[in-house]
Amino acid sequence: MKKIAIAIDGPAGSGKSTIAKTIAKELSIIYVDTGAMYRAVAYDCLAKEVSLGDEEAVVAVLEQMDLQIKLVDGEQRIYLYGVDVTKDIRTQKVGQGASDVAKIQKVRQTLGDMQRDMAKEHSLVMDGRDIGTCILPEAEVKIYLDAKAEKRAERRVGELIQKGETPNLDVVLQEVILRDTEDMNRKHNPLRQAEDAIYVDTTDMNIEEAVAAILQITKDKVGGM
Ligand code: DC
Repeated sequence: MKKIAIAIDGPAGSGKSTIAKTIAKELSIIYVDTGAMYRAVAYDCLAKEVSLGDEEAVVAVLEQMDLQIKLVDGEQRIYLYGVDVTKDIRTQKVGQGASDVAKIQKVRQTLGDMQRDMAKEHSLVMDGRDIGTCILPEAEVKIYLDAKAEKRAERRVGELIQKGETPNLDVVLQEVILRDTEDMNRKHNPLRQAEDAIYVDTTDMNIEEAVAAILQITKDKVGGM
């Protein structure tokens, strides 16, 4: 099989990670969750009580940071200073923090270089906000995954409950809307659909339907795999 890259971008809660992970499994290729990398930077800053709005301080943390992305049984694991923080970075607070540090150009550059390096070596499905537009502009398949904000908030609530949090739907909806606005309006590499990306609305789709739709798009683009 020739090396391929599938770029999946979209707002928080559009189903990107679950769908991307399933597609990667189906195609026996790697899944890279780039949001987790921004979350790791935010997590480290929060642990060090560094203000996420203080660019210089965040960059100082970034420069000292020992971040490793490992694949364990096909699953991406994030290690900070040798400690597995994969689960710890999944909170709402770290998610908003990730959106904050993602505004900083130096953070985007450093993580973006790591992401491009991964794509040089492997066939992969990579999800994020700027994969089709900036990180992998030559990706064979580009998908922009979207869903109504209310539906995305409902999904986030479900995920957070599973993780032991006790979220309030209205609060989560406001957080989802705020994060979208910030991700879409930041100066560097904002979230937007690449011109050659295919728009997939998952509001009324379940995971299986969305996966099937993207696998079909992939087949149409790159032929039998
Ligand atoms: O996908 P997520 O919720 O884990 O992402 C957390 C934040 O990280 C998101 O709100 C914006 C930022 N991010 C980004 O700016 N670029 C990416 N490629 C991935 C995530």
